[in-house]
Amino acid sequence: MPNLGHRPGRRVFIETYGCQMNLADSELMGGILGTQGYTAAPNHDEADVILINTCAVRERAEERVFGRLSHLLQYKHARPEVLLGVTGCMAERLRETITERAPYVDLVVGPDAYRRLPELLAEAQTVDSDPVVDVKLDREETYRGLSPAREPGIKGWITVQRGCDKFCTFCIVPFVRGRERGVAPDEILRQARDLADRGYKEVTLLGQTVNSYRHEDTDFADLLQLLVGVDGLERIRFTSPYPTDFTPKLIEVMAGHDKICNYLHLPLQSGSDSVLEAMKRLYTTGEFRDLVGQIREAVPKMAMSTDIIVGFPGETDEDFEATLSMLQEIRFDFAYLFKYSERDGTYAARKLPDEIPEAVKKERLKRLIEAQEEISAEIFKAHVGQTMKVMVEGESRRDEQDLCGRTDTFKTVVFPRPTTDHIKPGDFVEVIVEDATSHTLLGRLVS
Ligand code: SAH
Ligand code: F3S
Repeated sequence: MPNLGHRPGRRVFIETYGCQMNLADSELMGGILGTQGYTAAPNHDEADVILINTCAVRERAEERVFGRLSHLLQYKHARPEVLLGVTGCMAERLRETITERAPYVDLVVGPDAYRRLPELLAEAQTVDSDPVVDVKLDREETYRGLSPAREPGIKGWITVQRGCDKFCTFCIVPFVRGRERGVAPDEILRQARDLADRGYKEVTLLGQTVNSYRHEDTDFADLLQLLVGVDGLERIRFTSPYPTDFTPKLIEVMAGHDKICNYLHLPLQSGSDSVLEAMKRLYTTGEFRDLVGQIREAVPKMAMSTDIIVGFPGETDEDFEATLSMLQEIRFDFAYLFKYSERDGTYAARKLPDEIPEAVKKERLKRLIEAQEEISAEIFKAHVGQTMKVMVEGESRRDEQDLCGRTDTFKTVVFPRPTTDHIKPGDFVEVIVEDATSHTLLGRLVS
């Protein structure tokens, strides 16, 4: 064990941006630092180390990060011993500009270097000038043997795959998170059992193309089957699968186990074959349609959501109309809809000019949102009169008299708290749906 050269009991505050994978990575960093005597600070004021775990996927986040850093500089002014670090997907890119634009930053650490965080922090404490930087990507690192620091709760996530090998032409992820690696199944099981032992009821398996998961002889269907055997875990979710990585065996496993939730996030990106090709997505619209058909045949109640990008370079009005009609044909329960934004270093940024006017992108996005709102409202309204099994998550955000939870199809359900308040988070209750918006089911407890 290296001499880390710092006092034990130092407190760290991690600010997290972006996806669930980043939230999971913040827990991982918390766990790694925890083994070296660090504890979580309740706020910035009481932190000796402030880390911002950044996201680079969809926005021009760089300006925002520099803005945030200059705001956080006040904590260093107040207490010069405070260390300020940048981690995550933007670390890679920031390395080039940080010394110039935010020389007061002490530390820049990429997603494959978290194991070394304690040493890097110790180094940052001793050097006064340039930031300590480690953004090397590592083809092997899966953080085996390390336990993320998780707050008590009922829903947890486990990163089962790191990196991505697909290289969609719009996407920065393969560049900032490196090559695809599957975490060993025994490691995943260890974490799942630990969650169950601590009272967690639901786990979400995370990976950029999670169903291409492989570790030695274990594929994703095998992994799901292993997790179904973990006593105490009642619900298993995963995100995001990639359309061409489904196998008949996986669909069979999904259909065969109640614990595996009837909800799939299946990114379509575009309903036009030529755009899909330019995006280097590895399926056609026909293949996507067939896959949805197979899944719905195996699991008729499967709820689905998707990701779509509008305004990708070269997207014509006809391409966009094809996307709109595919959205209307498939009828996803909900959809995450984005305007294309160029990411430096990607194939699209190098070869495909981002020429669609912002106004056109905006208009297309608006039309998709309107269409999806209508579909979602219809699908949600169709639940009125049905009795749903709901895992209670806690108080409703809108009204503390109400409780909220989710169905296994990932729909939020809000219902009045009973007067005899015996229900706690993690409980399963039956709720009869009486009304619905395009995002929420409203109901009452079946007593
Ligand atoms: N494999 C992951 C993708 C991560 S990025 C997954 O399937 O969830 C999440 C979503 O962000 C993508 O599906 C895509 O719709 C969107 N996205 C990624 N890069 C983008 C870009 N340059 N512009 C707009 N949206 C983008
Ligand atoms: Fe990005 Fe495509 Fe991988 S969207 S994360 S390169 S599957």
